[in-house]
Amino acid sequence: MNAEARHRLDRMPEWNALAKHRDEIGEVHLRELFADDPRRAERYALTVGDLYVDYSKHLVTDDTLRLLRELAKATGVAELRDAMFRGEKINTTEGRAVLHTALRAPESAVIEVDGENVVPAVHAVLRKMRDFAGRVRSGEWKGHTGKRIRNVVNIGIGGSDLGPAMAYEVLRPYADRDLTLRFVSNVDGADLHEAVRDLDPAETLFIVASKTFTTIETVTNATSARKWLLAGLGAGEDAVAKHFVALSTNAEKVADFGIDTANMFEFWDWVGGRYSYDSAIGLSLMIAIGPDRFQEMLDGFHLVDEHFRTAAPEENVPLLLGLLGIWYGNFHDAQSHAVLPYSHYLSKFTAYLQQLDMESNGKSVDREGRRVEWQTGPVVWGTPGTNGQHAYYQLIHQGTKLIPADLIGFARPVDELSPSLAAQHDLLMANLFAQGQALAFGKTAEEVAAEGVPAELVPHKTFRGNRPTTTILADALTPSVLGQLIALYEHKVFVQGAVWNIDSFDQWGVELGKVLAKRVEPALSEGAQVEGLDVSTAALVARYRAVRGR
Ligand code: F6P
Repeated sequence: MNAEARHRLDRMPEWNALAKHRDEIGEVHLRELFADDPRRAERYALTVGDLYVDYSKHLVTDDTLRLLRELAKATGVAELRDAMFRGEKINTTEGRAVLHTALRAPESAVIEVDGENVVPAVHAVLRKMRDFAGRVRSGEWKGHTGKRIRNVVNIGIGGSDLGPAMAYEVLRPYADRDLTLRFVSNVDGADLHEAVRDLDPAETLFIVASKTFTTIETVTNATSARKWLLAGLGAGEDAVAKHFVALSTNAEKVADFGIDTANMFEFWDWVGGRYSYDSAIGLSLMIAIGPDRFQEMLDGFHLVDEHFRTAAPEENVPLLLGLLGIWYGNFHDAQSHAVLPYSHYLSKFTAYLQQLDMESNGKSVDREGRRVEWQTGPVVWGTPGTNGQHAYYQLIHQGTKLIPADLIGFARPVDELSPSLAAQHDLLMANLFAQGQALAFGKTAEEVAAEGVPAELVPHKTFRGNRPTTTILADALTPSVLGQLIALYEHKVFVQGAVWNIDSFDQWGVELGKVLAKRVEPALSEGAQVEGLDVSTAALVARYRAVRGR
């Protein structure tokens, strides 16, 4: 596929065929699609690992799916996927390989970057993590005063925070409940303050997680944490070694900060921040759930990697989910995508996916740097059901916008719940199933009127339906299932970026804000004259300084 042809994605015959097909099927209703095909539920469902994926409630026919797969073929999704798995430098703007899949590859695998097999190094770090996590969990690793570690505070932001913080929430039932885990990310001092205010420094381990080790929020928070620790212990710098470890690709900066590089857990530039929590960045999680559970999670990732790499297009779940997103974003003008997990433990899941999806595919130039003329990544949002049902679901059901949604649930409640709390699980899942049904099929005016609703209220109580959902159902929320789910979304995002011909692995868009913040800060603290402040920003700075008496 040459660059010029890729740039004109919207003029490719496969693209135009989809546009034409969209016109032809128009506003076809899911009620009709189900009525026409009694086997639709069974035909439009796939299984990958422990995940049962029902995509029957989508506005698609066999033709739609065939045309979408043809688009994937024409845009070279499989070729780019294979190049990624081979370790080619498909992150072209940063000149890097994209190998998060190597982080969960078995030790026998051979994956080369610049002629070097990276798998042995991955497993060496995993062994070092296991050893360290084991020593913290057993109490063998002691703090400066000889007390065992009871609190672990991860300091990081973006990919160095969202992954472990999310996964710790998800896997709490597997965690050592005698350990307290906290995650600090925000440069707002309140975040660190709240995280440590009730902790004993003698029992606290800080994990400073930063791929670059230059991120201002993380370095600032880590510096403050070190001051808090030393003040609390009344100790000198030598106490740092027992209370600080680093997760990074940058040994030099770690040493500059004062952390012994013997206490550094390494990863590599071919692991993107938002794809990194199964690398050393997951150390806090491994301490919480233990190395065996962590390995189960990695195996779950790997299972879906292999599926994505080898399954036929008709059975390839990440490919399907990616293409469905393209169908709505590019051919139905959907602007957003809701992820609605029916599990309290998945409370941070959607926030994690926001970075994964929006930092990856929030791009408006193609790989060759030319402006794209088609929609790219959606706004990803959502919170666990049933809470959202009493807040924003109204708009999904009856608003003017089309919002495709993923409903995620688990057949069994977690083992730890008491019988009376576990009994609530039926009600939780009944809500998930009912929402999928209501969104798809709605309620016609005739049905509403037949219930004796006064005529003037009928339009208000009518639900058009035809709101598409994917239902992802697993037996139970285990470490492996979490790995499977995350890999599924990683590869879905990959598929979309490949079709759109964008670099899903850079994030230049976040740089400008960082640079400007560094320039503005002296204006706030020292009243320094900052070149290039627009009048609005200058007035805001002046107001801030006045309030602070500066
Ligand atoms: O601000 C964007 C970003 O670079 C993310 O991509 C990354 O996950 C985050 O900052 C944190 O970066 P680091 O791990 O280097 O501190």
